[in-house]
Amino acid sequence: MKHLLKLEDWTTEEIINTLNLADQLKYEQKHGIEHKLLKGKTLGMIFEKSSTRTRVSFEVGMTQLGGYPLFLSSNDLQIGRGEPVEDTARVLSRFLDGIMIRTFEQSEVEALAEYGSIPIINGLTDYCHPCQVLADLMTIREFKGKLEGLKMCFIGDGNNMMNSLIVGALSTGMSFSAACPEGYMPPQHIIEFGEEYGKDKFQIVHDPIEAAKNADVVYTDVWASMGQEEEKKIREAAFAGYQVNAELMAVTNPECMVLHCLPAHRGEEITADVFEAHANEIFEEAENRLHAQKAVLVECMADNVLKQDND
Ligand code: CP
Ligand code: NVA
Repeated sequence: MKHLLKLEDWTTEEIINTLNLADQLKYEQKHGIEHKLLKGKTLGMIFEKSSTRTRVSFEVGMTQLGGYPLFLSSNDLQIGRGEPVEDTARVLSRFLDGIMIRTFEQSEVEALAEYGSIPIINGLTDYCHPCQVLADLMTIREFKGKLEGLKMCFIGDGNNMMNSLIVGALSTGMSFSAACPEGYMPPQHIIEFGEEYGKDKFQIVHDPIEAAKNADVVYTDVWASMGQEEEKKIREAAFAGYQVNAELMAVTNPECMVLHCLPAHRGEEITADVFEAHANEIFEEAENRLHAQKAVLVECMADNVLKQDND
């Protein structure tokens, strides 16, 4: 059973194969070539947090693959009233062919996989955002023609985005640097994951300019993630200066890309001028959520299709 619970569960080969399939599916979609690889399959999409990109791209992607997406809000599900995830997993496994879930705790996603009997795809937790990073890597490859040897720099919070970017960048041959304020570093085991690649490949500092030197890709994300709304004021103070702006871009490599998972807060983590100067990259990145996730859906769910067809 193949899941996408977090990116570190996948090998480099699995990541690259998915990026290759995503490129192929993007080509087929753009050229009107039918690719109904999940015909008749149903994906349940559980959302315990808001979403624009993840919801629409999974819903459209599943439809383009010939399957059926089912939007399940935690406000409506019994899970929102306390039904255990272990029971929800066993019930939904009897109706659905796969589940995409966006929630708070990573342990909830892991429990769905443990107790369910269908593929589980993580559509964002407080810990990680693997689907976003697959789309990010796809976009970098599209603009730069490669990943190996490029330097990614992340400015801001040691959050779900940064955790998955560290894993995704280092596993595919990129180097990774970041600038985070004191107290907002990624978890220790993610730092240890990075440190195994050596100081040349992985560095976290407090000074954004130092981190951005010679970067080929600059990445940033909001200062306060979903669920941290009450910390907004404290975070605004902590992250002042951790901004992607013209001064920071001046020390990067020529033709440096800027990526943002979105939604963006202009004037906070990124200035409006840098955002607009790189809008073509940022919105291609957003589009690539569709293609990358279609590849993930096929990787995780198409085996079931083949197995059932052969029965
Ligand atoms: N980047 C991202 O996951 O966007 P949504 O929150 O709109 O899904
Ligand atoms: N770190 C952000 C990412 C949104 C796609 C959040 O969790 O809200």
